[in-house]
Formats: sequence, C-alpha cells, structure tokens
Amino acid sequence: MAVDFLGKDIVAGGPNQGSVGWRSPSNIAIIKYWGKYGNQLPQNPSLSFTLSQAYTETRVDYKRTDQNDISIDFLFEGKSNKNFENRIEAFLKKNIAYFPFITSLHLKIESSNSFPHSSGIASSASSMSALCLCLMTLEQKLTESTYSPSTLLKKASFLSRLASGSASRSVYPISAIWGQHHAVNSHNEYATPFAKMHSVFKTFHDDILIVSKEEKKVSSTAGHALMEGNPFAKARYAQANERFESLLEILESGDVEAFGKIAEDEALTLHALMMCSDPSYVLMEPNTLSIINEIRAFREDHKLPVYFTLDAGPNIHLLYPDSIQNEVDPFIKEVLLRYCDNQKVIKDHVGSGPQEISTFTLDKS
Ligand code: DP6
Repeated sequence: MAVDFLGKDIVAGGPNQGSVGWRSPSNIAIIKYWGKYGNQLPQNPSLSFTLSQAYTETRVDYKRTDQNDISIDFLFEGKSNKNFENRIEAFLKKNIAYFPFITSLHLKIESSNSFPHSSGIASSASSMSALCLCLMTLEQKLTESTYSPSTLLKKASFLSRLASGSASRSVYPISAIWGQHHAVNSHNEYATPFAKMHSVFKTFHDDILIVSKEEKKVSSTAGHALMEGNPFAKARYAQANERFESLLEILESGDVEAFGKIAEDEALTLHALMMCSDPSYVLMEPNTLSIINEIRAFREDHKLPVYFTLDAGPNIHLLYPDSIQNEVDPFIKEVLLRYCDNQKVIKDHVGSGPQEISTFTLDKS
C-alpha cells in the first residue's frame, strides 16, 4: 500500500450532490511499455507524447448516500455499458484505500471518446486518466485533503497507473516518462513530466490513420501477460532501457532523424514481440504494412522527416514536425487515405494535457 497516496473519509457539511468533469487526452508511447509485474509495475521505462484531439470526456454526478459501499452507474457514449462498468467497479473496489470517501456516494459516471474505442488508440489511457482526475477533484471537494497542483497530478497519475499503465502518462502536458531509469529521476509507481524537450517536438504532429476500428483480437493486458513466457523478454527490457536513455538526449537536442529511427524501431519491436509470443498473434493488417512502405518510400524520395509508430493495434501514427505540414497533407490525401477505413484520419498533435471541464462537447445523452 502506497501510504503517501491514501485517501481521507468524507467530511460532514459539504455539498450533498454535484458534478465534476475532466477532459483527458490519449498519449502515444515512443518507448513502449510492454511487460509488467506485481501490481501494475512496468518492466521497463516508457516515454510518451501527450495528444490533443484524441481524448475522453468524463463527468461524474455524485450524491451522498449512507449505504457505506461502492455504488456506481456507468454510461459510455450515452448508453449503459455493463462491461466497462464492471471493470471500473473492480478497479474502485481494489483500490478503495486511496479514495475511501466514495463509499458515502452514489456516482453516475458518463464517458465519451472523441475516437473509436479499442482501435489501437490507447482509449484506456484517456478514459482512466479522466476518471482518476475526477476522483481527485471529488477528494478535494468532499474531504479534508488539499493537494498542490503537482501533488494532485502525481496522485492522479498513480491512480491512473493502477487502472491502466499507459494512463499514468496522460495526466501531463506534452510528454511524460514512467518507470525507473538511472539516467533520470523517474518512478515505477507514477509518471512524471518530461520537461527538457526541444521546441521542435512540442508542436510535433501525430496523424492517426485508422486502418481498422474493429476491437482488438488480443487486449493489451493479455499481451503484457504473454511477455512473461516470451524468450526475448530479458533482451527486450535491456533494449528499452538503452533506447529510453538515447531518446532523452535526442529529445533535448532536437534531432528529429534520430527520434524517427527510435520511434519506428520501437513500433516494430512491439509487434515483433506479439508475433513471437506463445500463442503468437498479429495485430497489424495488410494496410498497416502498405502504409509503412509508403511512408518509407515518401521519406526517401522527398527527403522529409516523416515517421511512424504503432500502438497495440493496426493503426498508424504518422509523426512529423509542424514545419512540413504543407508537404505531408497532400501525401496523406493522395496516397495514404486509400488504406484507411472509410478514409478516416484523426489529425492530432502534441497537446497541453487534461483540463477540468463543466461543458461536455461529446455529450451523447
Ligand atoms: C502498446 O496501458 O493499455 O500502448 O496496463 O494492462 O492497461 P494495461 O495496458 P496498457 O498498455 C499499453 C501498451 C502500449 C504501449 C504504451 O502505451 O506504452
């Protein structure tokens, strides 16, 4: 039990009911978290860019009750969703020591995404960080806890990690690191912001080419578990540590080409690890490979710094600096869109992190 993060009980005399809300973005890992141990601890450090247009909005309506137990209703995209509700309830139950005050409340949680869920865009990252930020706001409103802005984000990251590892990184603007590494003051239990980034990366683009919006055949959680029997696991963790350290320097110096090489190597390593798990599985689609080939040919022909990465899914994240947007846009339209499901692309970029909100733009109810 992480004593620093334990929560307080509800105090008498506060509001009887009300609502809180957060919009929280997804993030794209450049160094991938793949493999975990113990209670959601990463086998290697990871580093991500926080996104902007791929986000979840979560609103929690609370009402005091005296039933002294967890009580929630969960609506996803305006509809009751028992599957997600059970997952959230299990998370709340397991970690109740960090927010005991919720046993005095009934919570109606409504969540909507700006992108298709389970499509390789880390929907658990945005949704779980949004939920945990709501819990933090509730804690501040209804108990005697008061947190400085940085401690609030630290605990939000800690809680998000317990819900979904990659979610720990979504609470910070621009870029975050999670997992211990000797070269930097990072932690396994929560993520921290990566502040030393060169300006070229602060406006980096990540256009998400939706190859398929079908649900993944193998969840990330199952994929992490398969790393336990993967014969390459040890070498992979050592490699991730080395690449992480190189990337820190590259991000600071602004070396876009070196960045692109690591981003692509990490993406292909991630999928190679899936292919050599037992049982093996493939999440890339034929169009994923076609797009990769097109990107590499375009880069070679035009000598432009356009790179890709992948999450645990078939969709391509197209990474490039803001300065070449006018050259990349026609490439997407004329070459890449034909490989996308319904010509769908989410034009995203490095973003400024979560925001507390009272107006819900994605409200489906
Ligand atoms: C490939 O965070 O979704 O996106 O901790 O089991 O919820 P759980 O897994 P999750 O794994 C994300 C894996 C990844 C790489 C990354 O985001 O670092």
